[in-house]
Amino acid sequence: MASAASNPAGAQVLPAALQPLRGQDLLSSGDLSAEQTAALLELAAGLKAGRCRIDLGGKVLGLIFSKASTRTRVSFTVAMARLGGQTLDLNPQVSQVGRGEPVADTARVLSRYVDALAIRTFGQDELADYAHWASIPVINALTDLEHPCQALADYLTLAEAFATTTPGELNLQNLKGLTLTYLGDGNNVAHSLMLCGALLGVHVRIGCPQGYEPDGAVLARSQQLAAAQGSSVTVLHEPVAAVRGAHALYTDVWASMGQEEEKAERERAFAGWCLEEELIAEADSRAIVLHCLPAYRGLEISAGAMEGPSSRIFDQAENRLHAQQALLAALLGG
Ligand code: CP
Ligand code: NVA
Repeated sequence: MASAASNPAGAQVLPAALQPLRGQDLLSSGDLSAEQTAALLELAAGLKAGRCRIDLGGKVLGLIFSKASTRTRVSFTVAMARLGGQTLDLNPQVSQVGRGEPVADTARVLSRYVDALAIRTFGQDELADYAHWASIPVINALTDLEHPCQALADYLTLAEAFATTTPGELNLQNLKGLTLTYLGDGNNVAHSLMLCGALLGVHVRIGCPQGYEPDGAVLARSQQLAAAQGSSVTVLHEPVAAVRGAHALYTDVWASMGQEEEKAERERAFAGWCLEEELIAEADSRAIVLHCLPAYRGLEISAGAMEGPSSRIFDQAENRLHAQQALLAALLGG
């Protein structure tokens, strides 16, 4: 169990697997090793159960969000408060970023004031640019390519359903060999689920219409990571085949932020891909239903699937808080 223990001086120390993460960035789910991913989930479960406590001693996290957010913004803010730190809202609308100040200048200046940055933006290249110029950890709070903080919370939720021994203790060996099916657009959420699931030994199936497959490079990397864990990442184009026997059914919006103009075209392309009760019946009888939210009932998910007995969607949303507390503790030092 990766709970924080006390060293002889009484200060909290993080599990050994997490210590190399101190001062690092998290730009992609693939930045973490299999051990680090597992240790973060274990620490998150311990924090959630109140079995360990981390004090960041007043550290400050800056939030630069160029896209809307409810869960990510609030969960990072509350996570920092619970860790004895605080957050600063540095949105482009209220800073010089919105008036075109270069990333190279912004990142170097902010590195003199705050201890980490969580950035939500469009291009992964812009995030990488921040990480290049900043001397503090940079966290991907969603880009068009990935959503790694979401994936940590998602697999914590899957582990709670299938791999919890006593409350707050996960046996992540029990995750190995489970199947998570993601139905819908091969987008940022799908990409992080593929990479993170591969590291945990989960079989990840992406079910999508032709033309909406995940990025080829992310697919190849996740398949390589999965092979090392004895699992697999596959892409299917038929919804029933994709969900058959799965232990988790996951979906996300068909048109992500920045794709608003494609909404009508995507609704036509995704007809028949709604996650609804008939599909849940094809999955494992214990299967859980997940959605990163926000959700559009009647499009990618039915109201019945969202509110039904298999849904863990609101536990999943809560787990953003616990997973990000564990991540912040690891990057900023417990
Ligand atoms: N799931 C998620 O990232 O939600 P927000 O867009 O509200 O942050
Ligand atoms: N794929 C969605 C996720 C929102 C949390 C988007 O990028 O808009």
